[in-house]
Amino acid sequence: MDIKAVILAAGKGTRMKSQTTPKVLHEIMGKTLLGYVIDNVKNITNEQFVIVGHHAQEVEKFVNDNYKNAKTVLQSPQLGTGHAVSMVCPNLKNYDGLVLILCGDTPLIKEDTLNKFIEFHNSNNSDLTVMSTIFDNPTNYGRIIREDNNSLKCIVEEKDATPEQKAVKEVNAGIYCLNWGKIKDAFSQLKTNNAQGEYYLTDIISWGKAQNLNVNAYILDDSDEIYGINSRSNLAIASKIMNKRYLEKLMDEGVTIVDPDSTWISEDTKIGQDTIIFPFTYIEGENIIGKSCKIGPCAHLRGGVEVCDNVKVGNFVEVKKSKISSNTNVGHLSYIGDSELGERVNIGAGTITANYDPISKTKSKTVLKDDVKIGSNTVLVAPVTVEQGTNIGAGSVITKNIQAWALALTRSPLKILDNWVSKKLK
Ligand code: UD1
Ligand code: CA
Repeated sequence: MDIKAVILAAGKGTRMKSQTTPKVLHEIMGKTLLGYVIDNVKNITNEQFVIVGHHAQEVEKFVNDNYKNAKTVLQSPQLGTGHAVSMVCPNLKNYDGLVLILCGDTPLIKEDTLNKFIEFHNSNNSDLTVMSTIFDNPTNYGRIIREDNNSLKCIVEEKDATPEQKAVKEVNAGIYCLNWGKIKDAFSQLKTNNAQGEYYLTDIISWGKAQNLNVNAYILDDSDEIYGINSRSNLAIASKIMNKRYLEKLMDEGVTIVDPDSTWISEDTKIGQDTIIFPFTYIEGENIIGKSCKIGPCAHLRGGVEVCDNVKVGNFVEVKKSKISSNTNVGHLSYIGDSELGERVNIGAGTITANYDPISKTKSKTVLKDDVKIGSNTVLVAPVTVEQGTNIGAGSVITKNIQAWALALTRSPLKILDNWVSKKLK
């Protein structure tokens, strides 16, 4: 089926109070809000239009760098959500399929839900379907207003609502499915006669009703999914919801999470059965963790990490863009970045891979082959390779490649001054 997505991401995000970052590029566990939304529609739509405006260049760059099938469309100035969608009209002039509209600030929606939503639209022969849900506290959302016979009437924004309308708990999720051919004319007819003086996308509901089109609402049970992010407080709450959801899934699949309240794991992290994640562990970005591993307490995996089976990544260990092969231990207080660790490697406490050259601003690789043992407090200055079986003495700074089965160490001589303290104390 031909379905295109339109994702609204041009708004200023005033309530985020950010000088540097457009709202949709704020992150949850290392991934932007907009990234979550595009990821959730990219398998069910064949083309995605992202409406950009505020901080347009940054949002465009993000989309172009990460999503091949997504196009950005500029909305300038930003005159409201209805005006935002009207920007794609030239791109969809002769298009007659479905358009799925979503907001870039609603990252918790699931692909599965969107599929059900589209199915509902199709099986009801709907021309326009809006997603709604019931909130105990509906403040700030548009309210779904129904006729006496329960059919849809219109959507009223908080700022335009009468006290009676404000009491309505069914809210607009900001997600719509439209038969483009039937609804596209609405976008040239929207008016700005409302409290915010904007072209409201929500007005397509009453427009559709006036045209005698088939307009429906799909009521979502799990209201968490359409939680919108308008403030930093919303961002924190959404992060918690997303995290809890994924930890539950991991536990269902046979991963032990000792303390879900203090553990953060990004949705893009796969974890094998019987792995134990200890408290205060933070795992962001894309990672693969094998079976029967022990991660944490207080471990930080920063993305691009592949951990094979039966590996230990212990307390205060940070790992970034590295592969750790099976039966290897990185027990305590270490930084492993841009590295490849073989099997049965042991990394002593306080080991650092020095991967960054601040002069050339480049990163280099550390390779430790199978059975290498690194003594405590070692610095491995990359690029560097330690061949199989070699031991490195504690406190060494390794700046050259080392051959297999050797012992390598750097030591300044140990000085002992007899009675030095007792003389000083006299
Ligand atoms: C909107 C809905 C509201 C719904 C809520 C769900 C309207 C008028 N209101 O309200 O009914 O309950 O979402 O979360 O649609 N944007 C643009 N261009 C603009 C203005 C906004 O692209 O000119 C984008 C924003 O970047 C954002 C999205 O549209 O991603 C929604 O805008 P926002 O201002 O957050 O609308 P809400 O007040 O949340
Ligand atoms: Ca919003």
